[in-house]
Amino acid sequence: MYRSHNCGELRNSDINSDVTLAGWVQKTRDKGFMIWVDLRDRYGITQLIFDEERTPTEVFEKAKSLGREFVIQAKGAVIERASKNDNIPTGAIEILVTEITILNEAQLPPFTIENETDGGEDIRMKYRYLDIRRNPVKDNLIFRHKVTMEVRKYLSNQSFVEIETPYLIKSTPEGARDFVVPSRMNENQFYALPQSPQTFKQLLMVGGMDKYFQIVKCFRDEDLRADRQPEFTQIDCEMAFVEQEDILQIFEGLTRHLLKEINGVEIDNFPRMTYDDAMRKYGNDKPDIRFGMEFGELNDVAKHKDFKVFNEAELVVGIAVPGGASYTRKEIDKLIDWVKRPQVGALGMVYVKCNEDGTYKSSVDKFYDQEDLSNWAKTTGANAGDLICVLSGVTHKVRAQLSALRMELAERLGLRKNNEFAPLWVIDFPLLEWDEETERYHAMHHPFTSPKPGQIELLATHPGDVKANAYDLVLNGNEIGGGSIRIHDKETQALMFDYLGFSPEEAKEQFGFLMDAFQYGAPPHGGIAFGLDRLVAILGGQETIRDFIAFPKNNSGRDVMIDAPSAIDQQQLDELNLALKS
Ligand code: AMO
Repeated sequence: MYRSHNCGELRNSDINSDVTLAGWVQKTRDKGFMIWVDLRDRYGITQLIFDEERTPTEVFEKAKSLGREFVIQAKGAVIERASKNDNIPTGAIEILVTEITILNEAQLPPFTIENETDGGEDIRMKYRYLDIRRNPVKDNLIFRHKVTMEVRKYLSNQSFVEIETPYLIKSTPEGARDFVVPSRMNENQFYALPQSPQTFKQLLMVGGMDKYFQIVKCFRDEDLRADRQPEFTQIDCEMAFVEQEDILQIFEGLTRHLLKEINGVEIDNFPRMTYDDAMRKYGNDKPDIRFGMEFGELNDVAKHKDFKVFNEAELVVGIAVPGGASYTRKEIDKLIDWVKRPQVGALGMVYVKCNEDGTYKSSVDKFYDQEDLSNWAKTTGANAGDLICVLSGVTHKVRAQLSALRMELAERLGLRKNNEFAPLWVIDFPLLEWDEETERYHAMHHPFTSPKPGQIELLATHPGDVKANAYDLVLNGNEIGGGSIRIHDKETQALMFDYLGFSPEEAKEQFGFLMDAFQYGAPPHGGIAFGLDRLVAILGGQETIRDFIAFPKNNSGRDVMIDAPSAIDQQQLDELNLALKS
């Protein structure tokens, strides 16, 4: 037996018992006649004490040779600690060691393995297994496990069945590029790794498994960000014989369950907002509604004077920044520089200070009088002491710019509190989205999403206006889930492929299996997938998903620890019938 207890469990009540512990040497303090060792494992830290008088000489000598991260086993008696450490649960006791075994020596680690480390991001990624020994990373992984367990518990209790679907498949269109895998046995042919199990879960509905879920890896070759990894995990779900309302209810239930069990938070309000409203009020289809700063559209009260910039703009829109009237000229200039950065892309910003005495001072006083500015304040909900920031331009661009500013200001003002949770359903998404690059419409969610009842006819004349039975779950300004009610008949699906620019041959080639299945009694069905990594990060009060993944990729999609992707040898290339680009 390597250990009788772990390093986090011994207390006052264990005093006088003989114990065996095993773990890593966190640090040693050598006073010459006395040596203390902090022994660490997953559960905590226990102090070992070696004392020249009470410890056998050879054990004392061995203790002197211990280095950081040595793996050891120590036997001894639990004794009361002379100077207690209230910061750790085992702080009242220590182990007077009588026997010690060095199970493995360790090189000096490249960074200190403590809560606050001296290691930068790159080095910690390269030695991720050492980083995992640190509490912040370890705790995140355990936290993820807890969330996953609660998800399985909730869905199983609702009669969902977890079913695995294959990873070596044909392309599924979720809007990103596929990772492909060459097939040795089928020359010149490739599998695609699933961007999601979308088509398989629909086939499971045809198969009669009317409540499916899977905690599943998905693969998308897309540009990476803090909330995106090339391989990530979904809580993927599908149900048969349901309408949108059934799905919203079940997954509102899951969200409430998780917030309660994981965060101890009961949510009173689980609002719904249409996509159009979200865009109008927040300039964003995943608004953070923990704070206000709603957009005020100012066209009616800003386009009647000689200010050309506004008169020529499609949309003039502003937000009220609480307390912002006290910003100095320099601070406001910095804000203007911020919105003009290429990542935001605004051409400029007009501002109005709402003074405490009820007067207004703006950067466009030449054009607008106090009454005009008071109307702006009314429309943006600005109070005395606030600053109104106004942007103008092409509607979709200016909304995105003001949304970026809103989030940035909220962050600076401390309004994005990570222990506050505000879930939101965004519903009634457009079915199609115009892609400026390819100059055609593509499915905003995916091509299996059904249009709202009665809207299919609109497809021919006003494709951009057609709304879908599609919904996203937003939590604290992050899209953590998305889904839809699906098309379940062959004709509508064929029509949809047609509108999306697939020829009948292409549709058959890519999705013939699904269309075939629809001829054998496909039930009405729909579903949703949550991004598990995002969900876990947000419940954990953070937004970077990498910190909640044991072995994440870096921003260039590399695993720097195992050095992947990497070249493969000629023999493997030959077997796969692949030639390298010279
Ligand atoms: P969607 O593409 O919206 O829907 O994905 C569902 C959720 O997965 C998460 N997500 C990601 N998380 C981390 N890294 C990524 N690269 C990444 N991409 C997506 C998001 C997102 O909300 N098959 C449909 C679901 C359905 O219709 O049922 C789908 O995959 O949190």
